[in-house]
Amino acid sequence: MHYGTRIIGTGSAFPEQVVTNEDLVSKLAALGVDTSDQWIRERTGIHQRYFCKPDTPEEYNSALGERAARQALEMAGKAPGDIDQIIFATCSAETQLPSTACWMQERLGAHRAWAMDINAACSGFIYGLSTADQFIHSGHTHTALVVGSEVLSPYMNWEDRTSCILFGDGAGAAVVERVPEDCPNRILSSHLGSNGEHADLLHAPASGSRLELTPERYRQKLHKAHMNGKEIFKVAVRTLSSYAQQALDANQMTLDDMDWFAPHQANRRILDAVANRLKIPEEKILFNVHRYGNTSAATIPTLLDGAVRDGRITEGQTILLDAFGAGLTFASMMLRW
Ligand SMILES: CC(C)(COP(=O)(O)OP(=O)(O)OC[C@H]1O[C@@H](n2cnc3c(N)ncnc32)[C@H](O)[C@@H]1OP(=O)(O)O)[C@@H](O)C(=O)NCCC(=O)NCCS
Repeated sequence: MHYGTRIIGTGSAFPEQVVTNEDLVSKLAALGVDTSDQWIRERTGIHQRYFCKPDTPEEYNSALGERAARQALEMAGKAPGDIDQIIFATCSAETQLPSTACWMQERLGAHRAWAMDINAACSGFIYGLSTADQFIHSGHTHTALVVGSEVLSPYMNWEDRTSCILFGDGAGAAVVERVPEDCPNRILSSHLGSNGEHADLLHAPASGSRLELTPERYRQKLHKAHMNGKEIFKVAVRTLSSYAQQALDANQMTLDDMDWFAPHQANRRILDAVANRLKIPEEKILFNVHRYGNTSAATIPTLLDGAVRDGRITEGQTILLDAFGAGLTFASMMLRW
């Protein structure tokens, strides 16, 4: 017996501190780094983002994830004890040991669940949903909680103006549940891919076991994100387009059959280029990059949650999720709400 998977609740959470472009301009000016609100808006579409306060337990990665998860559980009409499986997508783990999933499990009191992290950077939430879908499909799991949550601000090099203006902190979550395999409202398909050949386009060289973080490497900021933005931009436009097309083709759909396109939000210009290539009308695209910047694995669930809560996404609609991220990783998913 096989089953289908349906999203039955969503949630999102952000830290308290809003950082506008102007706030960031002042912060960088103090370090002798020149940028402007106009440059950031025109080149990225970002107006503001949220940053966690350092050393604040209520704003740890697991705490943001917990807040988003509680909202998703409430919408789903479920309690923490109903969850069988927690998948926590993040590339900014609260600690290397143990997983952020376990820290969050304890905060949430989801004691029946088994919990693990997934790191596929900005594709992480789709990777997580797709993994939960497989466990549900096989009959192993009944109810899963998939979280995409990031505290990226500690990884920013404030002296690198091409990268530090792009990212923000936040969390999104979805509760997914087993439904009959022929239920129309379910995940319809997923396409996942990775290309380690491009691993160095966005990486933090001394953030793990490869290079011990010596005082010298700390001074060189090797624990911070290093990015080749221009190269990523090109790959992003190409792969977002091809993964979106794969999802449409696999479901024998055209753009007319798709109600919403929910792409990863890294830069508004990337999204405009993809929309232009595939001829997706702007009114079918969900955006939140202007409010939150790039929140990596949190982007897609917060995008969905925003559109569900303000009534744009309604039952029976068809939604195409599409992402790329460090790795590089790629993912698309078609689902009917
Ligand atoms: C990083 C990114 C915003 C840079 O935008 P861009 O239009 O490619 O800008 P360029 O790198 O060509 O730089 C153009 C000029 O702006 C300058 N510039 C870069 N960042 C700036 C900033 N924050 N403020 C002001 N000027 C800036 C550059 O120094 C350059 O100046 P120059 O012409 O005098 O050399 C863009 O390439 C991007 O978004 N890439 C994708 C990154 C991404 O998606 N990462 C996450 C993956 S999940």
